[in-house]
Amino acid sequence: MENTSQKNIQSPRGTRDLLPDQIVGWQFLEKVFSEVAQRFGYQEIRTPIFEHTEVFSRVIGENTDVVSKEMYSFQDKGEKYSLTLRPEMTAGAVRAAVQHNLTATGQLQRLWYIGPQFRYERPQAGRFRQFYQCGAECYNASSPESDAELIMFAAMVLQELGLSQYTLHINTLGTAGCREQYVQALVQYLEEKKELLSHDSQVRLTKNPLRILDSKDRGDKAILKDAPILSDYLSEESKQHFTKVLSILEANGYSYTITQSLVRGLDYYSHTVFEFTSSDLGSQDALGGGGRYDSMFEYFGGKHTPSVGFSLGMDRIIMILQKIRPEIFTLPTIDCYIIAMDKTVGEVVQTMAMKMRQNNISVITDLQYRSLKAQMREANKIGAKTVIVIGEEEIKSKQYKVKNMEDGSETLRSEFIG
Ligand code: HAM
Repeated sequence: MENTSQKNIQSPRGTRDLLPDQIVGWQFLEKVFSEVAQRFGYQEIRTPIFEHTEVFSRVIGENTDVVSKEMYSFQDKGEKYSLTLRPEMTAGAVRAAVQHNLTATGQLQRLWYIGPQFRYERPQAGRFRQFYQCGAECYNASSPESDAELIMFAAMVLQELGLSQYTLHINTLGTAGCREQYVQALVQYLEEKKELLSHDSQVRLTKNPLRILDSKDRGDKAILKDAPILSDYLSEESKQHFTKVLSILEANGYSYTITQSLVRGLDYYSHTVFEFTSSDLGSQDALGGGGRYDSMFEYFGGKHTPSVGFSLGMDRIIMILQKIRPEIFTLPTIDCYIIAMDKTVGEVVQTMAMKMRQNNISVITDLQYRSLKAQMREANKIGAKTVIVIGEEEIKSKQYKVKNMEDGSETLRSEFIG
């Protein structure tokens, strides 16, 4: 192909290539997450990257930004149904739990996951169209203890990663009944001031009034100061549930901020909702969030299954780790670089390298018949711990020197050769 006809194709807007020097940081995050999950007794689940569109639209809510604007949906080839790249994990995990009867007998089910998610959002620092989440869900758990378990699980992940500068925002949305009464009062109050609201909030007033509470618009914020407060509409049971969650957090040394405006961008929540934010991030400061969702299983034809979960935004965690723990992003070193003096010893060097690898030693050899000098330069560049030079003489004597690159010392060895 001629150069002139080649297009300068780049990765799609809002997506990124994660190159080897970043991947080591991601591997670290994945390892910490799965280790903490194991400590809490959670088991991994992997669900498809795309699902039938209604898996998301029904439970996340038709009027949420995620469903109304951000889903990557497409018609399946030749078939008559719409599929969607998953914008989050919770709905797909519940779909799978119902499909495979994971909760039918009422047993507790603790699951965790890691993977890419897709939302058609305006890309900016910390916001991508393909982003990654790790998270956990607990099914058949209605107790305040289960809400606290999930919050403390997420917090432990952040702590183990070394992220201490975060704020845990927490709120309760009560039951659907409490919320209905509250939304009526809120809409009544805001209707009178409709003209003064931002355009977005005016639209939300009819479609999703609760979301007006977390508007960032200054004018909206001023109006909201005197608006009815959700906590005044909570049932005694909802209040008790929330108080218990808070007291467990306190007993375990977790501080929190009760943020009345925290309603979350997905419609499936009731009772406890929470979000972790970090001052180390810009305007996209949410590190993760979650909450209780008690009615999702019914949407998929399952039994009533009270549930709670959270997801952490891995891209944002990585951004902070790059700042505060750059040492994590160091590629692992290679134990040994074997230099071949010339082409004729290439085969022996390969066999020797294989024997060493079978003995759990990491080995790199040259594959390009480069000069001794060039191979030495590469061994230095990749930071090989030791270097061995193999020529005719070494093969004949079945002995070679291992040079320790840290202190320059040499030792005569005879394993793995011949
Ligand atoms: P979410 O708040 O939509 O919740 O997302 C959780 C986290 O994913 C956010 O706090 C953020 O860190 C990250 N995130 C979301 N969108 C983007 C994006 N476009 N670019 C980069 N990071 C992003 C959920 O997804 C719920 N499923 C959480 C949950 C689990 N609730 C119950 N169980």
